[in-house]
Amino acid sequence: MAMTELSTPKTTSPFLHSSSRLSLSSKLHLSNQFRHLQLLPPLHTTSNSKISCSVSQNNQAPVAVQENGLAKTKKECYGVFCLTYDLKAEEETKSWKKMINIAVSGAAGMISNHLLFKLASGSVFGPDQPIALKLLGSERSIQALEGVAMELEDSLFPLLREVDIGTDPYEVFQDVEWALLIGAKPRGPGMERAALLDINGQIFAEQGKALNAVASPNVKVLVVGNPCNTNALICLKNAPNIPAKNFHALTRLDENRAKCQLALKAGVFYDKVSNMTIWGNHSTTQVPDFLNARINGRPVKEVITDHKWLEEGFTESVQKRGGLLIQKWGRSSAASTAVSIVDAIKSLVTPTPEGDWFSTGVYTNGNPYGIAKDLVFSMPCRSTGDGDYELVKDVEFDDYLRNRIAKSEAELLAEKKCVAHLTGDGIAFCDLGPVDTMLPGEV
Ligand code: LMR
Repeated sequence: MAMTELSTPKTTSPFLHSSSRLSLSSKLHLSNQFRHLQLLPPLHTTSNSKISCSVSQNNQAPVAVQENGLAKTKKECYGVFCLTYDLKAEEETKSWKKMINIAVSGAAGMISNHLLFKLASGSVFGPDQPIALKLLGSERSIQALEGVAMELEDSLFPLLREVDIGTDPYEVFQDVEWALLIGAKPRGPGMERAALLDINGQIFAEQGKALNAVASPNVKVLVVGNPCNTNALICLKNAPNIPAKNFHALTRLDENRAKCQLALKAGVFYDKVSNMTIWGNHSTTQVPDFLNARINGRPVKEVITDHKWLEEGFTESVQKRGGLLIQKWGRSSAASTAVSIVDAIKSLVTPTPEGDWFSTGVYTNGNPYGIAKDLVFSMPCRSTGDGDYELVKDVEFDDYLRNRIAKSEAELLAEKKCVAHLTGDGIAFCDLGPVDTMLPGEV
């Protein structure tokens, strides 16, 4: 989940220097009526109003309408891409919900390449939910981003109504209801983890500020770029106007991996595994909880009696799955990460099945487990499907589980000290201990 495209922050960091920002924010308004539309010449207009377009039933060329009689200059759009469509004008789209804006950073990377087409297909937010995709990339990746936008156009997804691409989070995050923050820098050879935390922290501080300034006030933010827990913490600290509860670090991939390993050992299909919690950091200290998980509704420890395997083999296989995959595949997980992002979103926008829960890295303030406050920590959650969640209260703990959770908590507290300069907590002091902890992919 680490190696993706990097967006350039506006701040000057000791590590990253932003050259002149490319003010490209091409707006591609996509429609399933594309084939029937005539390409219109660019609309040169002068003031601050919307240009909209009604598509007639008989597939004639759309008519551009200037709302309020005023016109607008939009030098970055051209021809048909400047047009928007009246979704209520056609039978097929009349009952659709209001369009939502979804930002994706690292949009030209591998994970996004799997994710964007799932989002656009309607399989994530539903078949009556039109979406606009706001794609954030780096200056280096802008050509690739245009290629991504072209492929999205060519896919003729009916629900995909807009695509914007850009390199400036303050433009791209405008009014977004979801921000999927995938872009981050991977740890290079010889790079200290402290440096990685700082480099990526700068990006997520900047993106937090941008979200705070221009996103929808109730935006849901899912941080995927590693180290995702601490990046999510930095992001939320820089976005004080957005509820801290709305920020997530992706640990759903770890949950899915854990379910798969338990299913394999028990000789059942993975849909029989439920109540799977990942506690803590998305790193090699994460704790896949076999005490509370169930197989066919029964406690895992009753079904799998090899408890040594659960404590050692199972736990390690989940913690290090990302690294093993890199060894085999030669690159970081991308498709399964994209699938787990979809799962994570769906868990928030659909009600959690009775008696079950899901894992996500969320803000620890007010948690009932005694985990230190002011961290982003993976914990068990339930949702009614409104995009929000509650922490699950009735979970069991034993000494093994408590000790393991404490280790991951200590790691996150140490990471937090390294980024104090980015969270408003004073001067950073970075001591990650003699054994440098790792991301799953770094094993
Ligand atoms: C994963 O879990 O597969 C990734 O986070 C690994 C990585 O570091 O890219």
